[in-house]
Amino acid sequence: MHLELAKLPYEKKLAGLDLAPGMKRRTQQRLQGQEESDLRIGDVTKGPLPWNKESFDYVLSTFVFSAISNDKAAIDEMVKVLKPGGKLIIVDAGVAQNRNVMSRFLAWLWEVMGDYMRDETQLLSLRDDIESVTREDYGPWGCVHVTVGEKKK
Ligand SMILES: C[S@@+](CC[C@H](N)C(=O)[O-])C[C@H]1O[C@@H](n2cnc3c(N)ncnc32)[C@H](O)[C@@H]1O
Repeated sequence: MHLELAKLPYEKKLAGLDLAPGMKRRTQQRLQGQEESDLRIGDVTKGPLPWNKESFDYVLSTFVFSAISNDKAAIDEMVKVLKPGGKLIIVDAGVAQNRNVMSRFLAWLWEVMGDYMRDETQLLSLRDDIESVTREDYGPWGCVHVTVGEKKK
């Protein structure tokens, strides 16, 4: 998804951050040929992020939220670097909106294993700086949700 977003006709700059050096190396390999990219190693919950305020049209988090305890700190930082009108997209796993049994079972299992199961729709809807929050479920039993919110202009 990150690579697909990078093809959109906006400013051609892709930036990324992950705790793991291995993830940075892997992304660098995948991005070979990409004109401009700025990949960093860091903790999204221990701000500030190493980019200026209002730098990006999109901020995308894939399967990171379920790994972090301090969701507010992460969202604060991601919203900060987003341009007004820009979109914050959070992709993660958890209970489906229809609350089917398998999705609840899997979410329980992931939680037992140490992950944090959340509904990011609620987190984003409660913020004053985000509007137009939507959510769609995908994948087996609807366990993968994509939540999108727009930063107010
Ligand atoms: C399931 S992997 C997903 C990796 C990648 N985003 C993807 O979609 O393929 C979770 C990633 O979250 C990263 N991570 C966990 N806590 C983090 C934090 N506080 N700040 C930045 N990255 C974090 C881990 O290093 C790991 O690479």
